[in-house]
Amino acid sequence: MRIVVVGGGPGGLYFSILMRKIRPDCEVTVYERGAPTDAFGFGVVFSDETLTVFEHADPETYSQIAERFTRWTDIDIHHRGSMTKSGGHGFSALGRRELLRILQERALSLGADVRFGCEAPAVSELGWADLVVGADGASSAVRTALSRDFVPTLDRRQCRYMWLGTDVVYDAFKFFIAETEHGVVQAHAYPYDERMSTFIVEMHERTWKRLGLGDRSVQDGVAWSSELFADALEGRQLFANKSRWINFVTVRNRRWCVDNVVLVGDAAHTAHFSIGSGTKLAMEDAVSLAWAFRSFSDDVGAATAAYEAERRPIVESTQRAAQASLEWFEGITRYVDQERFQFAFNLLTRSRRVTYENLQLRDASFVSAVHPDPRPPMFTPFRLRGLELSNRVVVSPMDMYSAVDGLAGDFHLVHLGARALGGAGLVMTEMICVSDVGRITPGCAGMYREDHVAAWKRIVDFAHSHGGSAIGAQIGHSGRKGSTRLMWEGMDEPLPDGQNWSLLAPSALAYSARNQVPRAMTRDDMDAVLDQFVWSARGALEAGFDLLELHMAHGYLLSSFLSPVSNLRDDEYGGSLAGRAKFPLEVLDACRALWPADKPVSVRISATDWVAGGFGVDDAVALARMLADHGCDIVDVSSGQVSPLEKPVFGRSYQTPFADRIRSEAGSPTIAVGAISSYDDVNTIICAGRADLCALARPHLYDPAWTLHAAAEQGFDLNAWVPQYQAGSRKPPAGRDRVRAELERTFDEIPLISSDARA
Ligand SMILES: Cc1cc2nc3c(=O)[nH]c(=O)nc-3n(C[C@H](O)[C@H](O)[C@H](O)COP(=O)(O)OP(=O)(O)OC[C@H]3O[C@@H](n4cnc5c(N)ncnc54)[C@H](O)[C@@H]3O)c2cc1C
Ligand SMILES: Cc1cc2nc3c(=O)[nH]c(=O)nc-3n(C[C@H](O)[C@H](O)[C@H](O)COP(=O)(O)O)c2cc1C
Repeated sequence: MRIVVVGGGPGGLYFSILMRKIRPDCEVTVYERGAPTDAFGFGVVFSDETLTVFEHADPETYSQIAERFTRWTDIDIHHRGSMTKSGGHGFSALGRRELLRILQERALSLGADVRFGCEAPAVSELGWADLVVGADGASSAVRTALSRDFVPTLDRRQCRYMWLGTDVVYDAFKFFIAETEHGVVQAHAYPYDERMSTFIVEMHERTWKRLGLGDRSVQDGVAWSSELFADALEGRQLFANKSRWINFVTVRNRRWCVDNVVLVGDAAHTAHFSIGSGTKLAMEDAVSLAWAFRSFSDDVGAATAAYEAERRPIVESTQRAAQASLEWFEGITRYVDQERFQFAFNLLTRSRRVTYENLQLRDASFVSAVHPDPRPPMFTPFRLRGLELSNRVVVSPMDMYSAVDGLAGDFHLVHLGARALGGAGLVMTEMICVSDVGRITPGCAGMYREDHVAAWKRIVDFAHSHGGSAIGAQIGHSGRKGSTRLMWEGMDEPLPDGQNWSLLAPSALAYSARNQVPRAMTRDDMDAVLDQFVWSARGALEAGFDLLELHMAHGYLLSSFLSPVSNLRDDEYGGSLAGRAKFPLEVLDACRALWPADKPVSVRISATDWVAGGFGVDDAVALARMLADHGCDIVDVSSGQVSPLEKPVFGRSYQTPFADRIRSEAGSPTIAVGAISSYDDVNTIICAGRADLCALARPHLYDPAWTLHAAAEQGFDLNAWVPQYQAGSRKPPAGRDRVRAELERTFDEIPLISSDARA
């Protein structure tokens, strides 16, 4: 097999080494436009996990790499005159030049034809090769030549950075946070040999422009950085090596292989340097691709497809972590005012891979400095006006589609009752609809008749007399998403003919082609709906609810006023955000006016429509400020479901960054929700200050007593088991634990034979 590798970086060289090793019959030609010693940059970092892969793939290069490693365990965060240390991490680094030298020598010794100083021929001229590997970095020409097939997206990010080196040899991974009159500038630094450390200077593009760095030479930029970080540099120097101010570009491709051409490393995907994974990913790609040829021999199509199938989920997960990390640094201004330990914790947990629990394992003393309270963060109380929640967990609103004519029945009593016994600080009802035509489906519960009030009172009374949860009512109107089938009969699908009711919305625009076209609301319609909200809020008060939530999310009526996707009005209730928010704020004002001053009101919003040109996170921050001015105490931050054209990016805690932004920029308390499923996530979110409360929906369908169980698993005595359940408050051991417990019991409970008995 004849293989052409375009690019002699870590990915291309390592692939050549492995192919020559496992398939010595292959002819491998590597084109590298640079000279052998041309490497840009300074050091590269690896984790212990990656090293195990390398050790198995090629012990020869591994032992040379490992010999040159500088190793350390601490991360130091220098922020506002203090240094906060977190230990137990475990890093290894070496110089990029040194790494490339080892890989080059090994590739040559195994017979790869590495042609330095040689521009690769265009892909169209490589028809003679059986396999073409595009290992030509982030600006890959191979990818560009076949961009119609690979379908790349290049996401140019908001920060400028320059990769520099210094002759200070640090003893830790260091973050230096400097504040200038034009914004925050951070340095990421780590040692990589006995003489040098990498020193990457990074700042928001805005700051970079205001500082005038774009108009100055690289040398000036280096001199300016040396001055700014003079203390960090301890009187030593900063060095450049082909350095310049650049914007990080996140590369993604819809496909990584087309016919006999395959992309590896930065050509296929990039991951921000703040999680230090680019070289690791490129070399792991090389291992996976070479191993695929071991399995599929000369079948290039099967091997490249197997490589992509194996690597894509791993790479995408790393890219999600890298995205969270780079966004954190883009928004660092939001966090610099945090107290030093919380700031450090926030920085360390930014990618979501490091959490409260694993920081406790790595360095318990650091975690106790961050959170000195003996209670896990999720079990600290939280006050909203006169309501004190015993902990930070919320049972998120969940429609049960089980009401008859809007009447909440036994199902609701058992469902909400069980969750009220489950230990959460706050249990929310499903969206309680303010009128019959404001229901989403015929099974939705309402609060528009006296008997509805009595039905809710029965549930609230149960929650208040058993368990310690507060209970909140979410009220809303379905708007253009009404008159649809029960969830399990077809989400958002209209009812069968003859059963539909007519819909109201800000504009006469159907939610989707299959949904009804609603009537654009007149002022009289608005007055009627306003009265319905007031009636329902009064009903919620009479029923005894502790908190009132207005549903302004998910494309229902108030949400559809807020979004420019669904509100095309040209009167005072449309247009700018202020116009679109006018009616929702009127509803809030009217409800707040009757809701007692000592009881809180929350508002659920969709922080983004996930649609280009739709409602976005900047709007959400501005809206949160308006809501607070109108008496909203906490914003429940969800997203999407406003348009069927949405393109949400799901993932663990994927909506939490929106809650975080609103909390830090609008100064409003927030509830984070969405794919928060572990108590570790809740502790991390609360401890880092990303939200004040965490709402969990589906986890509470799986386990109504989610909070009680989270406490038990953390060995925390929540003291929230109702007396009826006390006897079960210790989890019976299962599986292997059960066998171990049996054995322990056998030894523990062997009766001691007294000497009397023996006699
Ligand atoms: C500031 C910064 C800091 C980083 N820090 C780290 C870190 O700490 N740890 C880490 O793991 N990674 C880090 N990276 C990322 C890392 O450098 C890359 O992810 C990694 O080098 C990717 O390897 P690669 O082989 O895919 O591509 P590259 O290393 O970019 O190699 C591509 C090669 O192809 C050659 N080439 C391109 N086109 C042609 C052509 N037409 N003909 C011939 N040759 C060609 C180039 O000269 C180059 O040598 C950092 C990157 C930056 C920018
Ligand atoms: C069955 C079900 C019904 C839901 N009904 C509502 C609702 O009535 N009101 C609301 O605001 N959100 C509703 N949601 C959304 C949840 O409150 C929550 O925002 C979403 O499920 C994400 O959280 P999770 O990942 O913890 O499930 C519902 C979710 C589910 C699963």
